[in-house]
Amino acid sequence: MKTRTLPALLLTLSLAVSSCLEDKVEVRYTTYTDQEYEAVSAVLNLPNDRIDYSVELPEHMIALGMAPPEINNAKATLGRVLFYDNKLSRNQSVSCASCHHQELAFADNKAFSEGFDGQLTLRNSLALGSVANFKSSYEGGGGSITGPPTPTQRQFFFWDERAHSIAEQSSLTIQDDIEMGMDLNELAGRLEQVPYYRILFNKAYNTEAVNPFMITDALQEFLNSIVSTRTRFDDGLAAAGGDESRDFSSFTAKENQGKALFIQHCASCHGANMSISRESLANNGLDEAYADPGVGAITGNPADIGKFKVPFLRNIALTAPYMHDGRFATLEDVVEHYNSGVNKHQNLDHRLRAPDGDSPRRLNLSNDEKAALVAFLETLTDEELVRASRFEDPFR
Ligand code: HEC
Ligand code: HEC
Repeated sequence: MKTRTLPALLLTLSLAVSSCLEDKVEVRYTTYTDQEYEAVSAVLNLPNDRIDYSVELPEHMIALGMAPPEINNAKATLGRVLFYDNKLSRNQSVSCASCHHQELAFADNKAFSEGFDGQLTLRNSLALGSVANFKSSYEGGGGSITGPPTPTQRQFFFWDERAHSIAEQSSLTIQDDIEMGMDLNELAGRLEQVPYYRILFNKAYNTEAVNPFMITDALQEFLNSIVSTRTRFDDGLAAAGGDESRDFSSFTAKENQGKALFIQHCASCHGANMSISRESLANNGLDEAYADPGVGAITGNPADIGKFKVPFLRNIALTAPYMHDGRFATLEDVVEHYNSGVNKHQNLDHRLRAPDGDSPRRLNLSNDEKAALVAFLETLTDEELVRASRFEDPFR
């Protein structure tokens, strides 16, 4: 299916032919020399053999034209260490993981997160585990949907999609006055002083001379390896031959009812397969007047006021509170918004308008139907992603 090349530069391959009855070839990977491993393992809980970050996608995703990202293990390992390191912030008080917790599918459980000097972020932290596969969701940096994605299939980064790659997002986040407040060149100098970074950068980039590109590139590599493919929804979809409109035999009646309602009322924006985006930006009627203009603040175009990224909904049960400002505490609140709370706005998406084309749509769902929608959203949780040791904090 996929040819694997051994990253020969990175591994010391020792072949030991045993002298037992039958010849057995044992391949042992050691990433670090003894001396290197001593320095690395003094601080980091990393194995000396290979941590495999390679990604496989299930058939039903391949059938959609998605391709697994090729991950370089040495870069992803370095990216993981950077992700959990407080050294990335000016006063060494927060790391990426301070606002993106693995057990919450890499979201935060507060509306706004605390940055390096205690100031709050202006928006709700986005879950990094809500996407099937970051690389398939964008073009900049090497998108992998077969053929160029259409504008609605492509998703860029942040609530207003102002960053076009994860490397760009990381560079903006590290240097953000509220989030990490650190200059990237200064950060490169800081990391060069650290023995384990000299080793890790050398494994990943064949040099100990750290530069900003390597820092953001390694973070991007780690984030690209965070792939959500193992939900109950995916199991059901695979068994249904990739046809999300069929009832899933592994779902309860309530979950299937919720799936049907989702396809009817939500999928035109969020997509029914949870993997390929249907709409990238929309105004979903949160307010009559937006305090945060979203995309409108970037483009200066009045037609963009109140438009925000249409997020993927994988692991949504873990990522409360919801929306760009974390205004909704529960999924029930979110469903009630779409049921009865959508506000009138000049830019309100046409899909959320009543047939008169002007007033907001009211779904008039029964309590059972609302509960079914929530039950369906709860099938999107990926237990493997939130527990996988390869994504864990490596610091001792
Ligand atoms: C102080 C909290 C905080 C820290 C630290 C932080 N983030 Fe975030 N992150 C956020 C918030 C808030 C957003 C949404 C910001 C926005 O849309 O304007 C976000 C958005 C993102 C996104 C966009 C996801 C998407 O689907 O569009 C990525 C990727 C990301 N962060 C990765 C990182 C990485 C990598 C680091 C470390 C270099 C990091 N974050 C550090 C709070 C934080
Ligand atoms: C017109 C397109 C559109 C439709 C239709 C739509 N949504 Fe959304 N949805 C959005 C946008 C845009 C956001 C982000 C808005 C914001 O934060 O300002 C969002 C946010 C959400 C969130 C919060 C995600 C998070 O990470 O905070 C959930 C959950 C959600 N929608 C579920 C639904 C459900 C359930 C339905 C159907 C009842 C639905 N959506 C219909 C566009 C849409």
